[in-house]
Amino acid sequence: MLTTTNRRVTIEDEYRARTRASAALHAEACTVIPAGITHDSRLTLPYPIFVARAAGPRKWDVDGNEYVDYFGGHGALLLGHAHPAVVEAVQRQVSLSTHWGASHALEVRWAQLVQRLIPSAERIRFTASGTEASHLALRLARAFTGKPKIMRFVGHFHGWHGEVVAGAMSHFDGSVPAGIAPSLLDQSIVLPAEDIPRIVETLQTRDDIAAVIFEPSGASWGQVPLPPGFIARLRDVTRKQGVVLIFDEVITGFRWSRGGAQARYGVTPDLCVLAKILAGGLPGGAVAGAKAIMDQLDLAAAKAAAREKIGHQGTFNANPLCAAAAVATLGIVETTDACERAEAAAAEIRNGMRRVLIEEGVP
Ligand SMILES: Cc1ncc(COP(=O)(O)O)c(C=O)c1O
Repeated sequence: MLTTTNRRVTIEDEYRARTRASAALHAEACTVIPAGITHDSRLTLPYPIFVARAAGPRKWDVDGNEYVDYFGGHGALLLGHAHPAVVEAVQRQVSLSTHWGASHALEVRWAQLVQRLIPSAERIRFTASGTEASHLALRLARAFTGKPKIMRFVGHFHGWHGEVVAGAMSHFDGSVPAGIAPSLLDQSIVLPAEDIPRIVETLQTRDDIAAVIFEPSGASWGQVPLPPGFIARLRDVTRKQGVVLIFDEVITGFRWSRGGAQARYGVTPDLCVLAKILAGGLPGGAVAGAKAIMDQLDLAAAKAAAREKIGHQGTFNANPLCAAAAVATLGIVETTDACERAEAAAAEIRNGMRRVLIEEGVP
């Protein structure tokens, strides 16, 4: 853009001019929070906007600028911001307590919704995040099979705990990420998802693999599609080899279809990891899967099966405020065309972006 003085005004100049309050808050944030941000993916240059409020598909920053929100709460907000049913459920709950530290009816309703929607969900255990759920799923699989190794795929993200970071976002060469014990790397077999013959051969020839975990959308939240036939082939070979198949449905759950990728593709894993939409825009995660595996969390059932019970704590598991938002959201997922509408909107956006890239000659 050119001004009357012919000085070139960049997008960054304009951004800075419009977001002075965000700039001030960011400067303040940098004195207390590393880089001034609380999630790596919120890093924005020269500094992020600071949001003041949001409604439906829009949000407004502290300078009063209005945005169309393509981020959707990191993918958690299938219904958009401040959906009336979710707001009402959370408001009702907050005065009854934000944390009973006890069993409650809402967690049962929440689990029942997951059980009805997700094909593999014979049993559900809630956690406070997707990262925690991925951690628990791997432990359940190791305990169930008595085997140590986990097969993962290059670029597939399963949260930020130490077992799953190498080869997911960085260190694709197998080197040790800073702060990770080298012995943890030894517990993963990380392969390229494109190489189905090598994956199958590894599963058929090794007898130390507890589980295979992957994003059924393909790596990096669906940016790198899986090769055709990948999911069905993995189901087939893991079943034959007695390896636990885990779908990481943190992104795809209640979005690829109301039953997640597993319902959309008609392939049922042994376990799946859920979060994001699961908790209706509040924090929460879950492992859902086969009763025989999940029963390791049940003292009596584990004893009856001559297994050791798996310990699982978590102060905020199935937090009632989260459960209230979740039950309101998943109820809408179950009874309306929310998923289909999201799918149609996404297709329209993809097609529009593709048209622009073609028109602009961007390869
Ligand atoms: C596929 C996948 N798995 C796991 C996670 C971790 O979930 P959380 O951020 O709730 O810990 C994410 C988060 O983006 C994800 O996209």
